[in-house]
Amino acid sequence: MNITDSNFQIESPLTLPEDEVQLWRADLEAIGADESRWLQVLPSDELTRASRFHFSRDRQRFVAGRALLRMILAGYLRTDAHGLTFSYSKKEKPSLASDHADCGITFNVSHSGAIALLAFTRRREIGVDVEQIRPDSDLEAIARRFFSVHEQNQLAALPAEKRGDAFFRCWTRKEAYIKATGDGLSLPLKQFDVSLELGEANALIATRPDSSEARNWLLREVSAEPGYMAAVCVRGKGWKLKNWSGNYE
Ligand SMILES: CC(C)(COP(=O)(O)OP(=O)(O)OC[C@H]1O[C@@H](n2cnc3c(N)ncnc32)[C@H](O)[C@@H]1OP(=O)(O)O)[C@@H](O)C(=O)NCCC(=O)NCCS
Repeated sequence: MNITDSNFQIESPLTLPEDEVQLWRADLEAIGADESRWLQVLPSDELTRASRFHFSRDRQRFVAGRALLRMILAGYLRTDAHGLTFSYSKKEKPSLASDHADCGITFNVSHSGAIALLAFTRRREIGVDVEQIRPDSDLEAIARRFFSVHEQNQLAALPAEKRGDAFFRCWTRKEAYIKATGDGLSLPLKQFDVSLELGEANALIATRPDSSEARNWLLREVSAEPGYMAAVCVRGKGWKLKNWSGNYE
C-alpha cells in the first residue's frame, strides 16, 4: 500500500502469505504533521526516543514511521498496535519480540528524505534500503572508500552520465544486504560484490570469505519513484515481491 496522506485506513486483518514479500511506501512528510494521532500509538520507550530529536521535522517523521510500522504489524497480527513489543539485536536490528514469534513475521524499514519503505515477510531474514539520488561531486571518493574493487570497476566502465544512478543502485543494494544480515556496517563493505546491472535477477554476486553465502540470498532492485533508488534482500529463494501498488514485480 502507498500511504500519501494521513486519512489512510489499514484494513484489518491484513494477509501475508508465506511466499510473499510485501512492500509498503509512505510519505512521512505528508503524514508527519498529524503527530498527536501517531504519538498515541507509541509506547513510552519510543516516546523517549522521539523526544531526543533536535528538529521537529525529524521527530515527526520518526513518530509517523514508527506508528505506521506498528499499525501494519498489528494488521497482520490482528492485535493492538500500541501493545506490540520489539526486541533488538546487538547491532540494533529490530524484530518482533518472542511473544509474537509464532507468526514468523520479519520486517525491515528504510527512510530517505520524506520517503519510508517498509518490507514484511515470514520466516526469512529481510533488509530494505531506499536512497534519494543526490548529485554529489564526491561519488568517486565514496565509491573508493566503500565499494569493492569489482564494484568500482563496474562503475568506472560506465559512461559518465550513467554513473550517478549506478552509484545509488550499488549503494542501496549493499545496504539492503547488510540490513538483511543485520550486521550493519560491522560487515566490511568490500567483503561482497553486488552487480550494478539494471534488472538483475540476483544482484548479490559474490561473498567472501565464504563464497557459498551469496547463493543463500536474493537481492533485487525495487522500482522506486523518480529520484530514488531502492533494493530489497531476503534470505532464501521462492518468494515473490508485491509492491505498494499491489502488483507483483
Ligand atoms: C542500520 C544501517 C545499516 C542503515 O542505516 P541507514 O541507511 O542510515 O538508515 P535506513 O533508513 O535505511 O534504516 C534505518 C532502520 O533500519 C533498522 N535497523 C537498525 N539497525 C539495523 C541493523 N543492524 N540491521 C538492519 N536494520 C537495522 C531500523 O528499523 C532503522 O529505523 P529507525 O531509525 O526508525 O529505528 C546502519 O548501520 C548505517 O549506519 N549505515 C550507514 C550508511 C553507509 O555508510 N553505507 C555505505 C553503503 S555503500
